[in-house]
Amino acid sequence: MCGIIGFVGNKKAAPILLNGLERLEYRGYDSAGIAVIKNGEFEIEKTVERISALKEATQNGEAVKGEIGIGHTRWATHGVPSEKNAHPHLGFKGRFAIVHNGIIENYFELKSELEAEGIAFASETDTEVIAHLLEKYYSGDVFGAISKTVSLLKGSYALGILCSEQPETLYAARNFSPLIIGLGEQENFIASDVTALVSHTKNVLYTKDGEIAVITKNKVDLFSLKGEKISREPTFISWNVDAAEKGGFDHFMMKEIKEQPDVIVKTFEPRIKNKEVFFEGLKLSDEKLKSINRIIITGCGSAYHTGVVAKYVFEELLKIPVEVDLASEFRYRNPVIDKNTLVMVISQSGETADTLAALKEAKSRGAYILGIVNVVGSSIAKEADDVIYTWAGPEIAVATTKAYSAQLIVLYLFGIYAAEKRKSASANLLNILLDEIRSLPPKIESVFKMEDTIKSLAKRHFKMGSVFFIGRNIDYGTAMEGSLKLKEISYINSEAYAAGELKHGTISLIEKGKIVIALSAFEPLRDKMMSNIKEVKARGAFVIATDIKGNSETHKEADEVLYIPKTHPLLLASVEIVPLQLFAYYVALYNKCDIDKPRNLAKSVTVE
Ligand code: F6R
Repeated sequence: MCGIIGFVGNKKAAPILLNGLERLEYRGYDSAGIAVIKNGEFEIEKTVERISALKEATQNGEAVKGEIGIGHTRWATHGVPSEKNAHPHLGFKGRFAIVHNGIIENYFELKSELEAEGIAFASETDTEVIAHLLEKYYSGDVFGAISKTVSLLKGSYALGILCSEQPETLYAARNFSPLIIGLGEQENFIASDVTALVSHTKNVLYTKDGEIAVITKNKVDLFSLKGEKISREPTFISWNVDAAEKGGFDHFMMKEIKEQPDVIVKTFEPRIKNKEVFFEGLKLSDEKLKSINRIIITGCGSAYHTGVVAKYVFEELLKIPVEVDLASEFRYRNPVIDKNTLVMVISQSGETADTLAALKEAKSRGAYILGIVNVVGSSIAKEADDVIYTWAGPEIAVATTKAYSAQLIVLYLFGIYAAEKRKSASANLLNILLDEIRSLPPKIESVFKMEDTIKSLAKRHFKMGSVFFIGRNIDYGTAMEGSLKLKEISYINSEAYAAGELKHGTISLIEKGKIVIALSAFEPLRDKMMSNIKEVKARGAFVIATDIKGNSETHKEADEVLYIPKTHPLLLASVEIVPLQLFAYYVALYNKCDIDKPRNLAKSVTVE
């Protein structure tokens, strides 16, 4: 996730900016840069290596003169990681330098307009349009240029802005991306995250959406876009640096679980326009999409589980055969593939060795490859014919949560997009699904309110020797993911079964006290699940079920029920996984496991 730092004061800015960027390294980044004003001119330093490389190149920043500056760590979204795409970006007359977090959804239109006016772009980023718009609207009044520019932007931004003609003032603006102002003695700061500030000051102002800040070393003024002055009391931050990195949570995993509503919005919002799905830069032509007669989805671990869910969604919406295979198996099969097969390759890191090999195998057999990837410019993104990015930001906990959720959203959107093009589902159903996708974030927020209930459930059962997750249809996919989450971070033996399979062998393992987690929220098959719950209860199992709020039947059969808000059954996995993530987290916590770095596991599995 990108990070911002800005400084104005009586000291050299560059060492403070570089130190702040180092504090933001934990968020993950692929390039970084700073801009400092000295004698009315910008000095800009960038790197596609570590911040330490910038430090080395500038003698820890001491070689860069100037007492006002901005810095940025970039996590690529628009354009590959490179020096030209790294921030800060300059406006076309060189008077503005900016750093930006967020995504400008209408950048393509804005860029086309600016290009038509003869303005040349130096990067592939969405950010650069902002720098050029500031130049375009500047005629001596920086505030006016900022308020005009941001009024044209759609999407999210936290901006740090410098104008070389106003070398004593740092400007900032925000909409749907965090931006904090740090208040010091004869010095002030901006940052995307308190981590970058806590070593300098603990007094901060939290900005709100639609605000512009005008900051000098002695003064901070907040304004609305219309220029009305806003007064706000500072907040005192009691966190230390370690707590600040985790956003005040004890573990990255919990921070990332809680980021899911936000990540889901970031992933769907720019892709839904006028009730239609749109994927920026997708090369797959409508003609090609219509010629596809089979889909194969492949990936590893949780990425594979999103494929299991997507199979049910795609078959419903697209009415063509969908196959899901583990990448490690697929690569050594003799898969029957032709040019009418679409192979969807799912990976958070974009570097998983088995998944990359499966991609190459499918490509060599003539399939069209669509990558669904989180890391821009990763190997899978580069090798695929087409790529749709999940905009989950960097994930630090080894156990995936927010990237899994973002993958599901991209898969739903792709299903809706393809069904619309192929006319394989009713427009009414597709509209309902789009509305339901929009309602997922508040539903997930409401699951967070069950955290205490889930925590006490975990406290009562964290010593369970082993556990079975069961479910049907989409709930089977969620059972697989819930089971993996639990086992990988708590080291408890956990297996997922399609509920109908129990009686074909597994039920012999059910005995008194055995915990069975029965996912029963998929309404079309709830009756079948009730029978499965009865079967295991009759053999002494302790059943924890999930179900939709308002359905009291499950409580008659199960020992405990976790109720989740109702959503369309095809989108159920997005809501139902959340209590399971929380359960896994607390079971691991009570077992004193290393939650963010479980034993024997790595975040990116680049070996076979
Ligand atoms: C589980 C988990 C792994 C990954 C798998 C694939 O929590 O994180 O199962 O899903 O290693 O990784 P990517 O998505 O990077 O290809």
